[in-house]
Amino acid sequence: MTNYMALLRTPAVLALCATVGWTAVAQAEQAEDDGKRTLSEQLVLDMKAGGEAFEADNAVVQELIINRGLPIPFSYINLLMHTPNSFGPGPACVVCHSNNDPAKSYRGLDLSTCEGMRTGSTEAPARAIFTPGADPKREILGRRLRNNRMPFGTGFHVPTDSPNVALLEAWILDGAKDDQHFKDAILPLFATEGAFGPDAPACIECHMSNQEPPSFHEMDLTSYAGIMLGADSVAKGVENAVKVVIPGKPEDSAILQHLVENRMPPGISPLEDRDHPNTQILFEWVRQGALCE
Ligand code: HEC
Ligand code: HEC
Repeated sequence: MTNYMALLRTPAVLALCATVGWTAVAQAEQAEDDGKRTLSEQLVLDMKAGGEAFEADNAVVQELIINRGLPIPFSYINLLMHTPNSFGPGPACVVCHSNNDPAKSYRGLDLSTCEGMRTGSTEAPARAIFTPGADPKREILGRRLRNNRMPFGTGFHVPTDSPNVALLEAWILDGAKDDQHFKDAILPLFATEGAFGPDAPACIECHMSNQEPPSFHEMDLTSYAGIMLGADSVAKGVENAVKVVIPGKPEDSAILQHLVENRMPPGISPLEDRDHPNTQILFEWVRQGALCE
């Protein structure tokens, strides 16, 4: 009996099971409920149980890599950093981020080594770009790879330190109050074409109510209540809506982050997939602890 089970576990037999749907797979399932199946054995069983068709690379990454907890080797992450087009069209990250010296590398960020990645930016404000073991989606690394600068389509060349950005920043720092200053000087910014870049559409052209469509992320930038409610209040519920303004903390406020943070690599089209398969793998590496092995 033991030999029979060993035979069942060989790749050739598993491949056969996968193709012809041999009912012994069910027996293998029974016999091996001790949780000691190999990855490939479990995969065959799961596909038999009704695997979803993989319609895109993203689904393959999710189903075969992330859901199964495959350890992501640093060698792959290192390759991504050194290869053009890893996260969408553009030069390799290390071309511009390869040194701790801010005179040689933007933000003194060294993405060419594991240690450099874990250290983050060394130019003031020096800061880590992710927390090993945590989800990087809303941390600096995640935002730079996924978030398009607003208004949607704003180019890298548009300065991030405009007077209107400074106004918004000061308002948030001052507690984001619903006062006369807000009504006179802040709220109108979201309704004004060109307020955050030459020829840029007004924010409220795309964020005008809590309904998507037509309002992207169900975000309403037409009123104080809408701004403070935040994004995705219908999809996630009012309690779990994504706050885009954190009073007193402009650097943590998504509304400001989206105005000053360029998506990487510079010049990438906002239409490029924000959930690129390699982005998902990089994020999984961080969640697994950003190990250097
Ligand atoms: C052509 C040069 C260039 C390339 C290629 C490039 N970057 Fe950048 N990166 C910059 C510049 C310039 C800045 C600073 C200006 C800014 O904040 O947008 C920056 C800023 C950043 C920051 C912000 C750091 C902080 O402390 O806020 C991160 C993170 C980052 N880049 C990651 C990446 C990643 C990941 C890649 C590869 C997909 C990449 N960059 C590719 C030029 C580049
Ligand atoms: C042409 C349409 C368009 C305009 C104009 C626009 N946005 Fe967006 N906005 C989007 C889209 C699409 C997304 C989601 C996908 C993305 O990030 O690319 C988004 C996402 C956001 C988010 C992220 C919400 C979340 O859930 O985290 C913020 C914040 C935001 N926009 C703020 C602004 C601000 C502020 C302006 C004006 C300066 C603006 N947007 C103008 C289309 C637009």
